[in-house]
Amino acid sequence: MDFLALLLAILQVYLALCEETFFDTTVRLAENMTLECVYPLMGNLTQAEWLKTMGEEKESMAVFNPKFGLAIKKPYENRVHFLNSTMTGNDMSLSFTNASEADVGTYTCLLHAFPLGSWTKTVQVVQSDSFEIELRNHDHRILSPGSVTLTYELQMNQSAQEVMWEKIQPHQIDLLMHCNLSGGKSYSKYRKQIVTNCTQGIRSSFIIIPNATYSDSGLYRCQFVASTGENETFLMSLTITDGKTDSQNTIAVAVGTVLFLFVVIIVIIIVTFCNRRRRRLKNIPDKSSSGAQSKVANNYRRPISANQPVDDASEDIYVNYPTFARRPKPRY
Ligand SMILES: *[C@@H]1O[C@H](CO)[C@@H](O)[C@H](O)[C@H]1NC(C)=O
Ligand SMILES: *[C@@H]1O[C@H](CO)[C@@H](O)[C@H](O)[C@H]1NC(C)=O
Ligand SMILES: *[C@@H]1O[C@H](CO)[C@@H](O)[C@H](O)[C@H]1NC(C)=O
Ligand SMILES: *[C@@H]1O[C@H](CO)[C@@H](O)[C@H](O)[C@H]1NC(C)=O
Ligand SMILES: *[C@@H]1O[C@H](CO)[C@@H](O)[C@H](O)[C@H]1NC(C)=O
Ligand SMILES: *[C@@H]1O[C@H](CO)[C@@H](O)[C@H](O)[C@H]1NC(C)=O
Ligand SMILES: *[C@@H]1O[C@H](CO)[C@@H](O)[C@H](O)[C@H]1NC(C)=O
Ligand SMILES: *[C@@H]1O[C@H](CO)[C@@H](O)[C@H](O)[C@H]1NC(C)=O
Ligand SMILES: *[C@@H]1O[C@H](CO)[C@@H](O)[C@H](O)[C@H]1NC(C)=O
Repeated sequence: MDFLALLLAILQVYLALCEETFFDTTVRLAENMTLECVYPLMGNLTQAEWLKTMGEEKESMAVFNPKFGLAIKKPYENRVHFLNSTMTGNDMSLSFTNASEADVGTYTCLLHAFPLGSWTKTVQVVQSDSFEIELRNHDHRILSPGSVTLTYELQMNQSAQEVMWEKIQPHQIDLLMHCNLSGGKSYSKYRKQIVTNCTQGIRSSFIIIPNATYSDSGLYRCQFVASTGENETFLMSLTITDGKTDSQNTIAVAVGTVLFLFVVIIVIIIVTFCNRRRRRLKNIPDKSSSGAQSKVANNYRRPISANQPVDDASEDIYVNYPTFARRPKPRY
């Protein structure tokens, strides 16, 4: 009987330890910090709740229900708020204002969604320096927006048991994907649905980040852990070019060209008009209408030839244009 109790206790401690090593997101304590919780699956949120782990128990901090609204519990009133986008989307991130050491700890975001049911994410707040890590040997890839695949091939000889992919930011570490290779199970609470393949015996691991944009740029870490406990870590710095800036530049150049041409044309019209008036005034004593006509014709030709510099000017812009739009090409 006692033996069984001891075994259960050990098992519980073991499970607790296991749980504790698994945080979906780790956030550095800061006065203004946001605990991210975005439901990545399809469906409608019916309720969201944030809880803080207090020893053995979990204390409810805030509840949001699309029908009944928002209820923030006493000690957290005026200290936490949801983002404005919360009320419409699947983003239940909780922001702190004036957080302090007392806010270090473990938080749970508990969502109920229809039709898939409940979903949780754990966020740990730690007091620490920046999570930025020293970059010794790492890959750097520059890619354009779209689906991005990150791959790492295992170097060591042992067979791997677990693979972890993380995104590391100075203020936050997100677990993107955890693979239990013996169970063939993948686990992810990331805001985007990451695709991977956790087959047993793999010697390389990949993740696919769907619809990657500029905001997905950053440092990624892949860690293989062998059954012997040995591990192998790989760092990759990823830059997703900002497609928007490109098109904005293009639009700016196009608008600039059009405006420039417009101004040039107006100047030509004004100059032509003034010249014609001046010539006409000058031509009054001159009775030869054919001469006047030929002069007018000449004047008419002038703007046509004056178009030449316009073309030159616009050509100048087009010559410059590639340097405006030049972006680093994807490298592998
Ligand atoms: C936190 O936010 C408040 C209000 O937006 C601002 O006044 C304050 O400077 C911010 N603190 C830090 C450390 O950024
Ligand atoms: C979510 O709710 C909207 C209307 O509020 C409905 O049109 C949509 O079908 C719902 N989606 C799911 C997956 O139930
Ligand atoms: C959120 O929306 C309310 C009104 O809709 C507005 O008063 C408030 O300033 C907004 N807060 C932020 C942070 O944008
Ligand atoms: C922030 O918290 C400290 C104590 O933790 C308090 O003295 C200070 O007035 C608070 N500031 C704001 C803006 O609430
Ligand atoms: C890996 O294991 C094979 C045999 O199992 C051995 O021949 C090889 O030298 C090992 N390579 C390394 C780098 O340890
Ligand atoms: C991996 O999965 C296997 C089989 O489902 C399980 O026995 C093992 O405890 C899991 N390992 C981890 C680290 O979760
Ligand atoms: C995972 O990889 C294995 C072996 O490479 C392959 O047979 C299997 O079809 C893949 N599964 C998925 C879902 O891609
Ligand atoms: C990627 O974005 C496009 C358009 O913005 C959308 O139609 C598509 O469903 C998205 N794919 C994923 C996997 O989110
Ligand atoms: C990986 O191995 C190093 C030593 O080789 C160790 O310091 C580190 O804690 C290990 N990491 C994990 C997650 O096991």
